Amino acid sequence: MTNHRIALIPGDGIGTEVVPAARRVLDAVGAEHGVSFTYRSFDWSCARHLREGAMMPEDGLDRLREHDAILLGAVGYPGVPDHVSLWGLLIPIRRGFRQYVNVRPIRVFEGVESPLRSAEPGSVDFVVVRENVEGEYSEIGGRLNRGFPEEMAVQEAVFTRAGVNRVLDYAFTLAARRTGRLTSATKSNGIVHTMPFWDELVAERAAHHPGVSWDQEHIDALAAKFVLDPRRFDVVVGSNLFGDILSDLAAAVAGSIGIAPAANLNPEGDFPSMFEPVHGSAPDIAGRGIANPLGAIWSAAMMLDHLGHPEAATRVTDAMAAVLAATSVRTPDLGGTASTEEFTTELLARL
Ligand code: NAD
Ligand code: IPM
Ligand code: MN
Repeated sequence: MTNHRIALIPGDGIGTEVVPAARRVLDAVGAEHGVSFTYRSFDWSCARHLREGAMMPEDGLDRLREHDAILLGAVGYPGVPDHVSLWGLLIPIRRGFRQYVNVRPIRVFEGVESPLRSAEPGSVDFVVVRENVEGEYSEIGGRLNRGFPEEMAVQEAVFTRAGVNRVLDYAFTLAARRTGRLTSATKSNGIVHTMPFWDELVAERAAHHPGVSWDQEHIDALAAKFVLDPRRFDVVVGSNLFGDILSDLAAAVAGSIGIAPAANLNPEGDFPSMFEPVHGSAPDIAGRGIANPLGAIWSAAMMLDHLGHPEAATRVTDAMAAVLAATSVRTPDLGGTASTEEFTTELLARL
């Protein structure tokens, strides 16, 4: 029996509804595959911020450090400004643990209706690899002259050679393991100064991965192609902000942003990696028990793969596909009437 120490951070809103669903799935599939989990649950959230004045304790990262992986729901909720909740929890974990790759796969499952008629089940199966610790999400800048006519906000985008190269290498290597195609999201028509640098690095790294054919698309045109012809993509690599936007768009193309998973990886394994659905805390549906747990469950499957249990991971994604293909049990975002709980129970029956 292999045991893994898992830190659970359900967070806010539907994060507290989908993480328990993912945990049920982990326990069930773990029991079948000789894997057990020791969980530690952290109540770090906006509720904690309102109560104690901080999203997490000062030694939060040290406490997480002892775990093999982190499973997070979502953070951010009305009552605490987003910049406070996000810079107080999510971003420090991604940066502090050098989770510089954010892997966000997407598939159109059989039985799920894509809003695009051309996106037949099975035809869309690609991965967005997002740079996760620098780029447009930089800490350099701020707001000045609040309330005055001269009020202004400035933020410097920061792209480092080392930071871009390492995420590119991850993306090229992933593309080589898949169908050998990579698309780089850019905006290199001379307007955004950082992007010609990004493009140069892509061309340089490509020379180290001769088995991969690659191209680049301007982010605006790329967004249109995600909608018009999502089948053409395999691995799409983008900066922090571009990758963020593309992954919600990809999820919507596949039927719902409630489906999409994310792995925040520290590929070297020096620090725990973190797994979380792409979606947020969804305050508009929180507390009603109707959130789609698939994003969290698929994230848990990515965690299993990361922890060295690829068969268990595939078993979970197969069960996800089976429920969608063979039953009409699904949550309202996918046109069904099932609750989070009912959907999870149906999925467990198919594990
Ligand atoms: P959101 O993803 O929470 O919601 C967008 C829309 O998608 C809503 O209509 C919501 O009901 C729907 N939705 C999302 N997940 C769903 C699911 N699993 N099942 C069914 N429907 C689902 O995005 P938002 O409204 O922009 O953000 C809400 C809060 O979440 C903000 O505070 C934001 O900062 C935060 N957020 C956190 C994370 C994170 O922790 N990783 C990610 C995104 C947003
Ligand atoms: C995501 C989220 C976060 C991001 C926000 C909440 C800071 O949208 O994980 O996709 O932009 O990274
Ligand atoms: Mn996002």
